[in-house]
Amino acid sequence: MKRLGLLILVCVCVFSAWAQRASYNIIPLPKEVKADTTQFFTLANGMGIAYDEGNAESTRIAQFLQEWVKQATGVELQLTAADKKAPISLSLIAPAKKSKKSKQPVELTAQQKESYTLTVNKEGVQISAYEPAGLFRAAQTLRKSLPIAKGQSVELPYVQITDQPRFSYRGVLLDCGRHFFSVEFIKQFLDAMALHGCNQFHWHLTEDQGWRFEVKALPDLAKKGSVREKSIIAPSKVRLYDNIPYGGYYTQEECREIVRYAAERYINVVPEIDMPGHMQSALHVFPNLGCTGGPYPVAPHWGVMREVLCGGNPETLKFLKTVFGELCDVFPSPYIHIGGDECPKERWQKCPKCQAKIKELGLTTENVKVEGDGGRGSQDGRSAENKLQSYINHEIEQFLASRGRSMIGWDEILAGGLTEDAIVMSWRGTKGGVAAAKQKHRVIMSPNVFSYIDHPQLKDLSKSPRTTDSYVVSCSKMYSFEPLVPEELTKEEGECILGVQANLWTEHVAYPEHALYQLLPRLGAMSEVQWCNPEQKDFENWKKRLPQLEKLYDRMGLVYCNEVE
Ligand code: ACM
Ligand code: ZN
Repeated sequence: MKRLGLLILVCVCVFSAWAQRASYNIIPLPKEVKADTTQFFTLANGMGIAYDEGNAESTRIAQFLQEWVKQATGVELQLTAADKKAPISLSLIAPAKKSKKSKQPVELTAQQKESYTLTVNKEGVQISAYEPAGLFRAAQTLRKSLPIAKGQSVELPYVQITDQPRFSYRGVLLDCGRHFFSVEFIKQFLDAMALHGCNQFHWHLTEDQGWRFEVKALPDLAKKGSVREKSIIAPSKVRLYDNIPYGGYYTQEECREIVRYAAERYINVVPEIDMPGHMQSALHVFPNLGCTGGPYPVAPHWGVMREVLCGGNPETLKFLKTVFGELCDVFPSPYIHIGGDECPKERWQKCPKCQAKIKELGLTTENVKVEGDGGRGSQDGRSAENKLQSYINHEIEQFLASRGRSMIGWDEILAGGLTEDAIVMSWRGTKGGVAAAKQKHRVIMSPNVFSYIDHPQLKDLSKSPRTTDSYVVSCSKMYSFEPLVPEELTKEEGECILGVQANLWTEHVAYPEHALYQLLPRLGAMSEVQWCNPEQKDFENWKKRLPQLEKLYDRMGLVYCNEVE
C-alpha cells in the first residue's frame, strides 16, 4: 500500500514537472474569452513560431514570444519564418473593404489597430491582427496565460479570444524631475507598462528640483539646471537638508533610445516640459526669465514655487520655442505635454513686464468662476493673469501645430480659457475633464484620488515605504474609477475622453525598487479601467486573477506590494 502511494506521488511529481496548464484568467481581462478546458494543445520544446519574414515588426514580436515562453515555462520554441504549418503562427490580416465594390479598406480606429484574435485548437496557436500592435498585445496575452514553471511542455486549453482595448490612451506618468531614474530602469518600467497593455509613457522631464532634458542650443540648461545642491530630508514640514548635491539628465541620444525601446513595445513617449510654473531649475540657469531677476536655486524642497517664468518677457517665448523645438526633434509623439499646472500668479501681478503685456493684449479680469479654479497655488477665475497664461499656451500650441503635434496641458489650462485644440489632462478630480469634453476638447482622465500612485496603497501607513500620504489610493479605489458617467457626459461628449492615466510623482520615491512598489500591482487595477468595458469589471474576480500575474512579476524581477486592499 505504502509503495503504491509512493508510486502515485512520483507519478504526480513527474507529470507536473512534465506538463503545466495555462489559464486565460489574465489581467487585464480580454474582451471575450471562449475556453474549452476539456481539450488541450500541448506546447513543447522545438515547436515552431511562424511569422511574416518580410515584416520586421512581426519578426521582432515572434522573438519576444519565444523569449517570454522560455522565461515563463522553460519551453524553447523555434522561429520558422514563412512556414505556415508551424504550430504557432502570427499573421497580419487586411481589414474588411468599405463595401463589396470598393477596393478601399475601412479606416481602423486606434483601438482596432490594437485588436487581435488568439485561437488555440488541435492545430496549435493562431494569432491574427490588423497591425503589429495587435500581434504584440496578443503575444502578451499568451505570455500572461502561461504557467510559471520549468517543465518540458505546457497544456493550453482550447480557446477563442477576441480582444480590443476600451480606450486608445492608456498612460502612466513617471516624474523624473524630483528624482532621476536611469535609462536602464525606465526600460524596466516600460516593460511593466507593456505587460499591462499600456501604450502611453508620459515622461515628466522638468521640475523646480531638476531639469532632465538636454537642449543642445542651451547646453547649460541641463548641465546646471539638473543639479540641486541638496535635498530636503523627510518629513518635509521640517526643513532639514542632506547637503548632498543631486543630479542627472538624459542626453538626446538617451531619449531617442527610450523612444525606440518604447516603440518596440507599442508605447508612445509623451514628453512633458512643465511651464510656466515648475520652472525654477530653468530660472537657476536663466534668471533673466524670472519676474524678479533672481538669483534662484534649483529647488531643494517640494511644493509649489512662486518663482515662475515671466509672462511678459519676450525672451520667455523664445526660450520655450527653442526647448519645444528640440523636444519635437527628439520625440515623434503626436502629443506634447506643456504642463500648465500650479502656476502662482503673485509675481505676475506685481511684475511691470507681465502687466505691460496684459495691457498690450487687452486682457481683463472677468468675475466668473470656471472649472480649473482653485488648488495648489492656482489663481481663481478668468483673471487677466490666467489669460496671460492662456496666451502663452496659444503661442506654444501654434508652434507645436506647425510641427504637426497636439498640445496636452493639466486642467489648470481651463482657467484662462482653453486654446483651440488643447487636450486637457484632468487631475484635480474629473470636473475639469468633464468641462473640457463639454467644450468638445479631447480629455485624458487622471483624477488624483483614483490614479495618483505616489500615494500609499494600504491604509495602515506603517506597512508602506514613505509616500505622499494625504490619502490612500488602494487597488480597489483605483479599480472603481469609471471615467464615463452618463449623467455627466452625453455619448458624443464621452467620445472626447481619450483614456486614463496613472501618475507616479517622485518627491518621496528616490529608488527603482520603491517606484516599482508604488506601481504594482496597482497598474494591474488601472489596466482594467483602461482596457476593459465596465460590464466586465469585478474587483473580487480581479483579486482572484492577481496571483498568476504576481508569479510573472517575480519571474521578471519586478518588485510589488504583496497586499491588496
Ligand atoms: C499635478 O499633480 N500637479 C499635475
Ligand atoms: Zn513677469
